[in-house]
Amino acid sequence: MVEKVRMLKEEALEALHAASSLAELDDWRVKYLGRKGGAVTQLLRSIPELPAEERPALGQAANELKGFLQERYEARHEELSRPTAEMTEAIDVTLPGRPVNLGRLHLTIQTLREMYAIFGQMGFQVEEWPEVETDLLNFELLNMPPHHPARDMWDTFYVNPKVVLRTHTSPGQIRSMRKHCPDPIRIILPGKCYRYEAVTARAEFMFYQVEGLAVGRRITLADLKGTMVDFARQMFGADRQVRFRCSYFPFTEPSVEVDMDCIICGGEGCRVCKHTGWLEICGAGMVHPQVLSNGGYDPDIYSGFAFGMGPERVAMLKHDISDIRYFYSNDLRFLKQFG
Ligand code: FA5
Repeated sequence: MVEKVRMLKEEALEALHAASSLAELDDWRVKYLGRKGGAVTQLLRSIPELPAEERPALGQAANELKGFLQERYEARHEELSRPTAEMTEAIDVTLPGRPVNLGRLHLTIQTLREMYAIFGQMGFQVEEWPEVETDLLNFELLNMPPHHPARDMWDTFYVNPKVVLRTHTSPGQIRSMRKHCPDPIRIILPGKCYRYEAVTARAEFMFYQVEGLAVGRRITLADLKGTMVDFARQMFGADRQVRFRCSYFPFTEPSVEVDMDCIICGGEGCRVCKHTGWLEICGAGMVHPQVLSNGGYDPDIYSGFAFGMGPERVAMLKHDISDIRYFYSNDLRFLKQFG
């Protein structure tokens, strides 16, 4: 019987060396050490059937064989698990890496930052106020009591009868005045606005505005004009001309629309300016005395100007973008062109 163990050992070792893959090695393990039909297991199970005097010697030999084969199996397993020279050569470390997809600032944010830099040089500071606003600030304190017809200028998303998604950044005028009164103010208030209106090539239901507000003693319409000219020239080119057109906003008196000469045709008339030679850049005016007073300033002593412009429209003019819907439809082919 001991001879049988020796032969089994030889056979198993030979087969072990012949196993050249982990799969073959596993077959080997099942064949020799497997718990159910493995040759060594069967050998151990056959011991009780032997005559009593043969059992101790065979038991010892079979157990030694089991331990020995187990050790050899583990060593071979480690050997076969190591990467071979062939496998390491398959990884070519000189290949270029996969390109990392870098994010970039959205065109609106880039435009906002340009605007901050330009107005910043003129002494304007940036302040931000909530997008969800009370009806009181969005309308009433800007001279639009309930049922005032001018409310129709802004199609409104109501959160509840007293709370709206702000339709413009002008309520920030009241908030900033109340915060800084009686100090002089030179502030820009950027942020998102919402309007319940049909989306077109020029109008989104969500867009940004940048409100400007200057309050102090002896501020005049000429200061507003100087600020607008300076902005237009820094943003769109040193030769820009600016004109004021009469307009109406309940919270400014007088109110104007600010136009600059067309950056494409220089005023000759083209597709971009609809052959007028002029492009509108914002609504503006002198802060209405009642609004100054709502903000805490005495209108007999203080005056101010305000304007509200759309950074998307500024970016559209600057980059000749024909449709505002590109901005927020998440098309990377559009967004990747900027920055
Ligand atoms: C206003 O909202 C006034 N609050 C502006 C103002 C401020 C006047 C301070 C006087 C003093 P208006 O509705 O015209 O005005 O909007 C101002 C600018 O916001 C527009 O010139 C345009 O650039 C941008 N804008 C308005 N509606 C949209 C829209 N649906 N999509 C994209 N931009 C818009």
